[in-house]
Amino acid sequence: MRIDIITSVPKLLESPFSHSILQRAQDKGLVEVVVHDLRQYAINKHGQIDDYAYGVGAGMVLMIEPVYKCLMRLQSEREYDEVIYMTPDGDSFEQKTANQLSLKKNIIILCGHYKGVDERIRQHFVTREISIGNYVLSGGELAAAVIADAVIRLIPGVLSDETSALTDSFQDGLVAPPVYSRPADFKGMKVPDILLSGNDAKIEDWRFQQALDRTKEKRPDLYKKYTGEE
Ligand code: ADE
Repeated sequence: MRIDIITSVPKLLESPFSHSILQRAQDKGLVEVVVHDLRQYAINKHGQIDDYAYGVGAGMVLMIEPVYKCLMRLQSEREYDEVIYMTPDGDSFEQKTANQLSLKKNIIILCGHYKGVDERIRQHFVTREISIGNYVLSGGELAAAVIADAVIRLIPGVLSDETSALTDSFQDGLVAPPVYSRPADFKGMKVPDILLSGNDAKIEDWRFQQALDRTKEKRPDLYKKYTGEE
């Protein structure tokens, strides 16, 4: 998979992909993340990529031309399955979206900045608009990093134990059950006996019940959906 990220602040995206699982995924050749500096497509030698919004006093907008040029350049090099625009008024990002995107070959993520991007880019070139929550970030870069992280870890072969993505919270509609590690007794705080029993079937039942109870308590919205209860 290849993920191209278009941004006016490339420095913000220098680090998130250079560590841990995301770096290993790239080292293994399972994903390529390429960050493009929009300023390289500026309309003049001053590096201009934004301008005032028509009809509004304040607020800068990413101009159509630099974004268009960058998109055309990328699309002349390969076919893209999606051009995603990060914006607080987009569709909310869910595990389901991450699952869908992890099956794509090439995607472009365009990060908004300032007041956003010229609407004509959204109308004519963007195939999907995504929000990571009901709050406004100063740009789409951190949101793009969130999406890329959630997607990359789902690509087959990225996680060493492939089943671990399948047992993530939300993957089956429930939050994950509690987990423990050694020691079994730390200053009197004990790991539940069942987990030390060696009875795999019983442990599986226990984990499922814990996931149910936890979902009911912490995410009643998901619990209702899962059980169909009102
Ligand atoms: N850009 C600014 N805020 C955002 C958000 N909440 N989600 C996605 N992109 C954004």
